[in-house]
Amino acid sequence: MSTDLMSVEHFTLRRKGVAVLDDVSLRLPAGQTLALIGESGAGKSTLAFAAMGLLRPPEVALEGRLMVGDTDIASAPESKLRGLRGTRMGMIFQDASAALNPCFTVLDHLSEPLRRHRGLSRSACRTRAVELLDSVGIADPQARLSAFPHELSGGMQQRVMIAIAMACEPELLIADEPTSALDVTIQAQIMSLLLERVRALGASAIFVLHDLALATQVADRVAVMYAGQIVEEGPAFKVLNHPAHPYTRGLRASAIEFGAERLEPIAGVVPPLSAMPGGCRFAPRCAYATAQCSAQRPPQVTHGEVTLACWHL
Ligand SMILES: Nc1ncnc2c1ncn2[C@@H]1O[C@H](COP(=O)(O)OP(=O)(O)OP(=O)(O)O)[C@@H](O)[C@H]1O
Ligand SMILES: [Mg+2]
Repeated sequence: MSTDLMSVEHFTLRRKGVAVLDDVSLRLPAGQTLALIGESGAGKSTLAFAAMGLLRPPEVALEGRLMVGDTDIASAPESKLRGLRGTRMGMIFQDASAALNPCFTVLDHLSEPLRRHRGLSRSACRTRAVELLDSVGIADPQARLSAFPHELSGGMQQRVMIAIAMACEPELLIADEPTSALDVTIQAQIMSLLLERVRALGASAIFVLHDLALATQVADRVAVMYAGQIVEEGPAFKVLNHPAHPYTRGLRASAIEFGAERLEPIAGVVPPLSAMPGGCRFAPRCAYATAQCSAQRPPQVTHGEVTLACWHL
């Protein structure tokens, strides 16, 4: 039996009364990587930010539980969350140029968590910063310490962000589309670097990804989100190569990266959050939908290794 590093139970997040995440349940065993996939607006970033404790009341209303280790992120005091972020959890954002402070050097960025959480001296920070830059493949790390973000390429900025997130050796790394702001040749390098660092630490990771083929390569598990809910969750290879939920099948058939000869986009669009259909939220777009689908929300049911929310399996 593995222990769960993160467990989400009946978690609902509302913005101005509208459920952006609706009754989400999910478990991430320690040491495993999870990919969150689904169309734009599904709530992937919202879940990632909520897990970091960055979306909290009064900005949003929360129900249910979102545990990271033994801390309930929804109810923990802000001071505890600040301690957790950087030490036990690290986050990598999509756009490094926006996440890094233009007025701070690379050394400033790396020193902040090392001083705050590890209490390292100035010279110890310098030594550790060089090691960290080296670990993320930055050549001549000593010389890069005094660089400002704008003096680095996009790929290098993302490497610096990985180094910052890894500085205090977190148990959970959350990366929201960590490579989508980079050009294709750099994307693979950065993704494999990220995975290598996560594995080196024995950490768990949540990757928000758009690329389904990439998800099968980098993730142990995948959670497919649709309109604020998880519709299918299980081993990445299984879910993406033999999808069971009609929505996952639709995503697979419309995924250019799987090399389908004829791409079949999913008909229709995601309904607006303010006008979600009752019952199954995917029903209006689903070829298999029946009256039951429109009337009743399908429960999450586990079949073997895969959990599904669908009336027709
Ligand atoms: N700051 C905000 N204020 C109001 N609504 C928001 C805010 N951020 C996100 N939303 C809404 O919440 C829903 C989920 O958004 P989220 O960004 O989590 O989706 P996503 O799956 O990450 O999409 P993408 O693939 O485009 O990044 C969307 O309907 C979005 O419009
Ligand atoms: Mg997003």
